[in-house]
Amino acid sequence: MEFNYTTEQQEIKEQTFKFARNEMLPFASEFDQSGEMPLTILKKAWELGFVNTCIPVEYGGVGFTSQDTVNITEGLAYGCMGMNTVLMANDLALLPIVIGGTHEQKEKFLRPFTEDYKIASFCLTEPGNGSDAAGIKTNFKEDGDDWVINGDKMWITNAGFADLFVVYGTIDSSLKHKGISCLIVDGKTAGIEIGKAEKKMGHRCSDTRGMRFNNVRVPKENMIGAPGDGWKIAMKTLDHSRPMVAASALGGALCAYDHSVKYATERNQFGKPISSFQAIQFMIANMAMKIEASRLLINKAAWMLDNDIPNTKIASYAKAFAADSCMEITTDAVQIFGGYGYSIEYPVEKLMRDAKLIQIYEGTSQIQRMVIAKEIFSRH
Ligand code: CAA
Repeated sequence: MEFNYTTEQQEIKEQTFKFARNEMLPFASEFDQSGEMPLTILKKAWELGFVNTCIPVEYGGVGFTSQDTVNITEGLAYGCMGMNTVLMANDLALLPIVIGGTHEQKEKFLRPFTEDYKIASFCLTEPGNGSDAAGIKTNFKEDGDDWVINGDKMWITNAGFADLFVVYGTIDSSLKHKGISCLIVDGKTAGIEIGKAEKKMGHRCSDTRGMRFNNVRVPKENMIGAPGDGWKIAMKTLDHSRPMVAASALGGALCAYDHSVKYATERNQFGKPISSFQAIQFMIANMAMKIEASRLLINKAAWMLDNDIPNTKIASYAKAFAADSCMEITTDAVQIFGGYGYSIEYPVEKLMRDAKLIQIYEGTSQIQRMVIAKEIFSRH
């Protein structure tokens, strides 16, 4: 067992944190308040190789492992959880192609993402189906050489900017999860209607919208796998992406912790720094424990992926634990800052707002516990 990062892993981590500290953190509040996508910053992250880490070397990718990916994600989320959401959503959308695509599909759809900064969206959730993903209603109908898509999607990250959509639908809803299929859709295809940008509590600089597919025609060769393969592809994608989401919670938590330690050392009350009071020390100690435990779970979940070991349960441990810890840590950070913590002039209230979403997207903390319980009881 090895707990140290390799020299290469350490370098990747340092580079990512340097980028986060210099290029993201100083602008995080400004973009949170304007709600604009920070495209220049995002493109810089792409130029440095921090985006689309799932693309294999054969298709122009850098060749990062899952462990590299979670380290990079931790760093980027330290800079801004919202900006990281935009970047991470690319991997979520491209992973189904990496997992289930043919050589031709990978060459055609992944390579362009390595040649220019492009944006992708993963379209699973619908207005009536979030946690119950097997119940999605978007319909895929065969017509000659095409599939025709009709239906509505909701909470789609990057929808207003996407060059490519990876869309889940059903060929027959009575088949439940066995009817779910997955299509790659060019962003410019006729019939795609993009809804208004949602105004959100946090992750405000990330673009989130509803979408409508009105008789959208997609060539049959754009289906990933066979009709009905979409569900397994989606579940395997989430096994890969949940450690990343957990790492984004870790990055946000670490940022809140660093602010808290600094503030507690500098802030004086009753004639001494508040860091000398046990009430504050215990909050900081809890933060440190949760950060370390999150990192261990995340690295294990990623290491299992790199070693082809099924990681569904550990990925859910990591996602639920890191997301819940991030919520607790950012809430305590606001508490340590007191009245200043509640002000938008200080950084921690944004972290608390951003943390909340990580307990919700890519499977709520409750869904993660359902996955864990299923894994436990299916063996009995
Ligand atoms: N790998 C492979 N197969 C899997 C699997 C996995 N990880 N998990 C489940 N399966 C298989 C099961 O073995 C079962 O197979 P059989 O048909 O052979 O029996 C089948 O899938 C059905 O599984 P379940 O009975 O567990 O399905 P379910 O309908 O009860 O619930 C769920 C599954 C885990 C709750 C699932 O619906 C789920 O993950 N929901 C949450 C959805 C989610 O995470 N959405 C995120 C949207 S993306 C997003 O948020 C991103 C963003 O904005 C940036």
